[in-house]
Amino acid sequence: SEFGTSFQKIFKSMKILLLGSGGREHAFAWKLTQSPKCERLYIAPGNAGTSQCGENVAMQVNDFAAIEAFCIDKKIDMVIVGPEDPLVKGIVNHFRENDALRHIPVVGPDAEGAQLEGSKAFSKKFMMDMNIPTAAYRKFSKNDLQAGLDYIATQTPPIVLKADGLAAGKGVIISPTVEEAQAEFKEMLSGKFGAASETIVIEQFLKGLEFSVFVLTDSKEYKILPVAKDYKKIGEGDTGLNTGGMGAISPPPFVDKTMMDKVESRIIKPTIEGLKKRNIDYKGFIFIGLIEVEGEPYVIEYNCRMGDPETEVVLPRLKNDMVDLMASLFDESLKSISIKIDPRTAATVMLVSGGYPEKYEKGKKISGLKTIQSNLVFHAGTKETMEGIVTNGGRVMALTSFGESLHEAVGLSLISATKIEFEKKHYRRDIGFEFK
Ligand code: AMP
Ligand code: GLY
Repeated sequence: SEFGTSFQKIFKSMKILLLGSGGREHAFAWKLTQSPKCERLYIAPGNAGTSQCGENVAMQVNDFAAIEAFCIDKKIDMVIVGPEDPLVKGIVNHFRENDALRHIPVVGPDAEGAQLEGSKAFSKKFMMDMNIPTAAYRKFSKNDLQAGLDYIATQTPPIVLKADGLAAGKGVIISPTVEEAQAEFKEMLSGKFGAASETIVIEQFLKGLEFSVFVLTDSKEYKILPVAKDYKKIGEGDTGLNTGGMGAISPPPFVDKTMMDKVESRIIKPTIEGLKKRNIDYKGFIFIGLIEVEGEPYVIEYNCRMGDPETEVVLPRLKNDMVDLMASLFDESLKSISIKIDPRTAATVMLVSGGYPEKYEKGKKISGLKTIQSNLVFHAGTKETMEGIVTNGGRVMALTSFGESLHEAVGLSLISATKIEFEKKHYRRDIGFEFK
């Protein structure tokens, strides 16, 4: 492969740099350190949980110059990128185009591949070209204001408006009336989400159950990881504002083999074909957000990374060695790997700061961590201080449990949720509610 013998040599024991600081990265760190091939793990910038698995490094995920210097200094053998931002900004290209870094494999797509998430217009075009089922859409830019308003007037509400670019998960607006959609459309075009909404995708509203499929690919072969479903709304019964995710389950009970066969043949295979056709260098995760409408799967969105908090249920169910799996993307061995999945159900419940996803306070002391013995605790917004571990973000930690049933798994996570305390703690007690 392009990584040649130097890669073969380091394959046995690796010094790994993991980028990110959320619950997703703590789950990655936890899983990576179970591998005997993980010689050393650095997490940048990490959180109070990742520091229990490896060494946190005070370095931001978009600071390519600092990352470059660190990789050379520490002789890093592999980089794993958690969040989308550095991928969309071209961290993979930065490594591939730099003589001092070229030999270091980076898990994640190049900038063009990351456009699957970084640009809604790109991903919709990609799906149309490959005949992948998704909501019908039209794209509008600054010069198309009147055309867009006229188009909205012809649509039956609810009307779905999407900012083209990355907008921290806030770029999708679903308007209940034509008038509201038109007002929103104007605001978005005039910079509500900055450059991200200079182009807008307007699409058909789809109604059904959503689920997430995760694919690992080297741009030729692919493997399907455990399926999950996340809960995005802050309130019980899926009410209130959107968040980064309040909980997740794996597997979602309604996704059966017939559905997965359709997803594989109509969506995953043509997605990989599309990457090949465009010559995209994609060695990483594809997160496919799907919706089931009358028994048929449609793509809601692509992400170019793992989901958070989906990772906190997907990785615990994955039985493969994580370093082998990541390394297989670079030495043509992905094909020979067989994915092994724990048959039990996993559930995760996210503890969040009071006020999130709007204004909230940080620095609240977290107690009760030592009382959790059998369940997994993945830190997100936490920080170590002289006074102990304190809150440091909206989403504070994900509590993951296994069960023979969904009910049992969620129940165990909820017991953990009562044992961990911090001021203004909030969480949803109804994760998995549709299926119980
Ligand atoms: P996205 O950022 O594209 O994942 O969209 C965020 C959320 O908006 C999704 O998880 C869906 O719940 C909802 N959504 C997006 N597109 C549609 C659509 N075409 N029809 C219905 N709901 C949608
Ligand atoms: N949980 C949804 C996401 O990671 O985007």
